[in-house]
Amino acid sequence: MADECAKDRKELTTESGAPVVDNQNSQSAGSDGPLLLQDGHLLEKLARFDRERIPERVVHARGSGAYGHFEVTKDVTAWTKARFLSAVGKRTELFIRFSTVALESGSPDTVRDPRGFALKLYTEDGNYDLVGNNTPIFFIRDPLKFPDFIHSQKRDPYTHVQEPDNAWDFFSLSPEATHQFTWLFGDRGIPKSYRHMDGFGSHTYQWMNAAGEAFWVKYHFKTDQGIECLTSKEAAEIAGNNPNHHHLDLLQSIDKGDFPSWTVSVQLMPLADAVNYRFNPFDLTKVWPFKDYPKHEIGRMVLDRNPDNYFAEVEQSAFNPANFVPGIGPSPDKMLQGRLFSYGDAQRYRLGINHTALPVNRARATEAANYGRDGSMRFDSNGGRVKNYEPNSFNGPAQSNQAQSRPLEMHGMSGAQKATLHREDNDFVQAGSLYRLMTEPEKERLVENIAQGLAAVSCDEIIERSVSHFSQADADYGRRIAERVKALRTSKRGVPA
Ligand code: HEM
Repeated sequence: MADECAKDRKELTTESGAPVVDNQNSQSAGSDGPLLLQDGHLLEKLARFDRERIPERVVHARGSGAYGHFEVTKDVTAWTKARFLSAVGKRTELFIRFSTVALESGSPDTVRDPRGFALKLYTEDGNYDLVGNNTPIFFIRDPLKFPDFIHSQKRDPYTHVQEPDNAWDFFSLSPEATHQFTWLFGDRGIPKSYRHMDGFGSHTYQWMNAAGEAFWVKYHFKTDQGIECLTSKEAAEIAGNNPNHHHLDLLQSIDKGDFPSWTVSVQLMPLADAVNYRFNPFDLTKVWPFKDYPKHEIGRMVLDRNPDNYFAEVEQSAFNPANFVPGIGPSPDKMLQGRLFSYGDAQRYRLGINHTALPVNRARATEAANYGRDGSMRFDSNGGRVKNYEPNSFNGPAQSNQAQSRPLEMHGMSGAQKATLHREDNDFVQAGSLYRLMTEPEKERLVENIAQGLAAVSCDEIIERSVSHFSQADADYGRRIAERVKALRTSKRGVPA
């Protein structure tokens, strides 16, 4: 700091580079008179300030970012031709953004909420964005329900606070969320820091190798720092004392050279297995058990550099699940299919059509070359003299004709319909298995967290329907929640529990 203070200062200028004569006193008619319209510096300064805020992300508004790299540690060329994964030891630069989901950019870090785990890998074939969470599953399995689900989690239109009635009402009418609720209200629902949690691609994706063979794939990022979590009480205390807890933890660890890392693995399923697997492998409310599809280590991710400017690099970063590279593609997961549209669309609204050319978002290991032109705030050369149509006879960029992922043969009728049910497809099997995996103290904390939420609900029907979901997952689970909710509600009414 002392050094910075001692440095020669540059001259202060207006936005157009002219020297500013006085930055402390506005121009006025006489020393105590009204201000003058000729004071261009005052007008420009206020007008810029008035426009500082842009729309925050509609979800995941609160977040922290860091740069780092991904290094391949095992040969995966049998499964994918993705060039950034083509050789052991190969490194690819990346940017990551961690986030909470429901509340605003200024909200506390230590809330009970999934955490975003969004990666942008700057590969030689363009940017590959893997936009996941710290949970392997999600609340719903159809993107048509996403806006309603998010509304139920955010502030109520009348009270403008998060309402237990809304969150639990939606849950009680969406049994497929039982698995994710069990995960979220368990110990891992509030990580101790962004460094102490795992990450997941969550969806099933497709990998294709150089011979054109394809595999379904799920990504796992295991924290090398070890999993550490906060209890509801600890989280509430930290939220009061240091609402920026996760953000500062990441920033300060990297600043002092304590670089967090994750071991990256994949689960792989041969394409043909998907047809007859026990449940729908594209259903985002379910995991693939490791006994069916074991994890294969593929690499290591290290975060070692903080962004210099939060707004430029973190707020303006734009991750899009539709950004794939050759060798990697989507699966028929309906949620993923919905997301392939929603992110680019949100970013065109939030940042503008030219956001892909911003330094944090533009391709780095290659150069984007296409016929997209113009639009609001085109701040690069806009393609210069190069022709702006295709096909052309003037050596403009041409399509690659290389298959990125393997096309799928599809059958069936079009129309609004539920996904196919496989042998073990129901909303409760995996939630019950997760509950039974927990130790007794873990179960106690899970039941207490859920009961505290449900006891605040005003409508008996919502509570009964919710308890019924947990009971269908595991009879003991449901019974304990019902008993604890009853005790909490009785004691609130002033009758001893
Ligand atoms: C159909 C379901 C979903 C829709 C429509 C949806 C939509 C969105 C939108 C519009 C944004 C804001 C994008 C921006 O302004 O840059 C966002 C952010 C995000 N979403 Fe989703 N989302 C869905 C499901 C999911 C799922 C299943 C995951 C994780 C597996 C996820 C993870 C994230 C993350 C991590 C971010 C923040 C990215 C960042 O850090 O900038 N979302 N989502």
